Amino acid sequence: MVSSIIISAAVLVVTITSTMMIMLFSLADAISSPSSSTDEAEALRSTGWWNSTSAHCHWDGVSCNNAGRVTGIALYGSGKELGELSKLEFSSFPSLVELNLSACGLNGSIPRQIGTLTQLTVLSLHDNNLTGEIPLSLANLTQLLYLTLCSNPLHGSIPPEIGKMKNLIFLDLGYSNLIGVIPSSFGNLTTLTTLYLDGNQISGFIPPQLGKMKNLKSLLLSHNGLHGPIPLEIGKMKNLNNLNLGYNNLTGVIPSSFGNLTNMNSLTLRGNQISGFIPPEIGYLLNLSYLDLSENQISGFIPEEIVNLKKLSHLDMSNNLISGKIPSRLGNLKELKYFNLSYNYLSGTIPYSISSNYRWTQIDLSNNQLEDQTRAPVEAFGHNKGLCGEIKGRPRCKKRHQITLIIVVSLSTALLLSVAVLGFLFHKRRIRKNQLLETTKVKNGDLFSIWDYDGVIAYQDIIQATEDFDIKYCIGTGGYGSVYRAQLPSGKVVALKKLHGWEREDPTYLKSFENEVQMLSRIRHRNIVKLHGFCRHKKCMFLVYKYMEKGSLYCMLRDEVEAVELDWIKRVNVVKSIANALSYMHHDCDLPIIHRDISSNNILLDSKLEAFVSDFGTARLLDNDSSNRTLLAGTYGYIAPGKLDYNLH
Ligand SMILES: *[C@@H]1O[C@H](CO)[C@@H](O)[C@H](O)[C@H]1NC(C)=O
Ligand SMILES: *[C@@H]1O[C@H](CO)[C@@H](O)[C@H](O)[C@H]1NC(C)=O
Ligand SMILES: *[C@@H]1O[C@H](CO)[C@@H](O)[C@H](O)[C@H]1NC(C)=O
Ligand SMILES: *[C@@H]1O[C@H](CO)[C@@H](O)[C@H](O)[C@H]1NC(C)=O
Ligand SMILES: *[C@@H]1O[C@H](CO)[C@@H](O)[C@H](O)[C@H]1NC(C)=O
Ligand SMILES: *[C@@H]1O[C@H](CO)[C@@H](O)[C@H](O)[C@H]1NC(C)=O
Repeated sequence: MVSSIIISAAVLVVTITSTMMIMLFSLADAISSPSSSTDEAEALRSTGWWNSTSAHCHWDGVSCNNAGRVTGIALYGSGKELGELSKLEFSSFPSLVELNLSACGLNGSIPRQIGTLTQLTVLSLHDNNLTGEIPLSLANLTQLLYLTLCSNPLHGSIPPEIGKMKNLIFLDLGYSNLIGVIPSSFGNLTTLTTLYLDGNQISGFIPPQLGKMKNLKSLLLSHNGLHGPIPLEIGKMKNLNNLNLGYNNLTGVIPSSFGNLTNMNSLTLRGNQISGFIPPEIGYLLNLSYLDLSENQISGFIPEEIVNLKKLSHLDMSNNLISGKIPSRLGNLKELKYFNLSYNYLSGTIPYSISSNYRWTQIDLSNNQLEDQTRAPVEAFGHNKGLCGEIKGRPRCKKRHQITLIIVVSLSTALLLSVAVLGFLFHKRRIRKNQLLETTKVKNGDLFSIWDYDGVIAYQDIIQATEDFDIKYCIGTGGYGSVYRAQLPSGKVVALKKLHGWEREDPTYLKSFENEVQMLSRIRHRNIVKLHGFCRHKKCMFLVYKYMEKGSLYCMLRDEVEAVELDWIKRVNVVKSIANALSYMHHDCDLPIIHRDISSNNILLDSKLEAFVSDFGTARLLDNDSSNRTLLAGTYGYIAPGKLDYNLH
């Protein structure tokens, strides 16, 4: 009984206390806010931005808290033309957290009273017609996380006071006509992840204090007239993944401290006056996919370390003073699609890893001092051209040769003769090359047009001639794929090796296919089967060869009648032919080619019993760099026994 009275009394006390507390809090709230909910409704209505008669908290783009106070005004994308920003009486909204009026047709200047929105965390006014200067009162918005004023015709400079907005995460003042310098106080914005100041008329140096922005991920300072060197301190922004300093007047060198920026994904220094060498430390930026150093005065060599950048897809170093050779393994970068080294002083040959690739979307090596490769590179490039994109630069490689000639001639008449001979040789080769290119362009149904891949006619011819690869035209199977015989409308007969559907899914067969294309387009020998072209489409992959009437040596030897026809004299001729072909592959090619699968199956005979080496699916270049030369490949029983000899039935 007594205890229940005590409990009741206690409950009463607690109730009274809490009621008083609530009243006190409400009173405090009322005192701290100069306005009320009705004032807010009135302030919103007076802008003329809304028409509705309902309660203001339900209006489009208006949000309120539980106490009915306005916390958000977001008309972004509403299509309204709001006019003067000053129509909004800022002091009426002490609880406003988000003001999102981007692309709302605002004009006039940003009122000083904006500094009263001290609870604001989001201020987004981009893509309007706001003019005037950025008000200093903005610095009082210390809760701000997100500030964007980009794409407004503002003027004046960036207030250093912005450096006081210690909580800022995102700051975009790009394309806003701003002048002056980047305030060093920005270094205090240590929580900032994004800073865009691009497209202004900012001048002066990049303040080294920016290096203190440890959380910065994206820094765009392009187009705006910055000069002086790139501060070493940028190398301290360990989280940086996107840096664009393009189209400024920056001088000095690329700091080797850039090697610390291992999160970097995109780096653009295009269009400055940067000089010196490319630091080898660039090879540490393993996540780099976009690198643009073009239009500078960078000299020295392309560092070998660049081949570490396995994710690189865009590489532009054009328009610099870079000399030396192109790193031989550069073409091995699997992701590389855009590749521009034009307008430099590169010399030596175009590495095979590049010339043999046909995945380029764009590749430009023009206006260098590169020599042409001695064997069949035109074809290799031709394939690229036909399949994926354009290779520029080969004809123009001559230009600087000619300029060099002129200088040399004027320096020493003694050299005149030899130089003239050289020039003649180049000229001759060029004519030959042009002839080759011409043949690939024939489109009258001849198979060469397949090299262009856009040769619809030739493709149709093949499909018709084989009734879409009907089994009745199949004449055998190779190491991979099935071989078909096709008689074209012109009367010409060709052999087609087509990958089966399931083989197209299998990387091993795909690799063999590509390998064969690469190898056979590199070499040309009377005893190596001639590849006319290929079709490389995800739905239909086939190779087009010269047709060999008598089939393989293996079949011939197995057939009792035919084996007799192939008498000993003819067999010796076969051996001689194959020896010739192998000797050519091993000794006369740019890089020796080893076939790795010489067997009677892979030796084909034409109507005159002339022998040809075929099936280059597992062939390899004997590259000095290659590490795994001991790898076994080929048909069991025919694998080369260590030396480059071979075995015939
Ligand atoms: C307000 O209503 C009038 C008439 O209904 C209309 O013409 C006007 O466009 C509206 N204004 C806004 C801002 O919606
Ligand atoms: C502004 O509003 C739009 C539309 O509601 C929204 O998508 C955008 O994220 C907002 N911006 C900010 C900075 O919150
Ligand atoms: C910031 O707020 C303080 C007090 O609230 C005020 O005195 C000061 O003038 C404001 N600063 C600016 C730049 O508006
Ligand atoms: C950064 O902040 C510190 C302390 O908050 C202050 O002393 C310093 O002046 C600020 N730096 C700049 C460049 O404004
Ligand atoms: C590279 O990027 C991936 C995500 O794209 C990330 O998981 C990885 O940590 C990054 N590596 C480095 C070295 O920054
Ligand atoms: C390569 O760069 C040069 C100079 O910067 C430019 O003129 C050319 O168009 C670029 N080539 C390609 C294929 O983009």
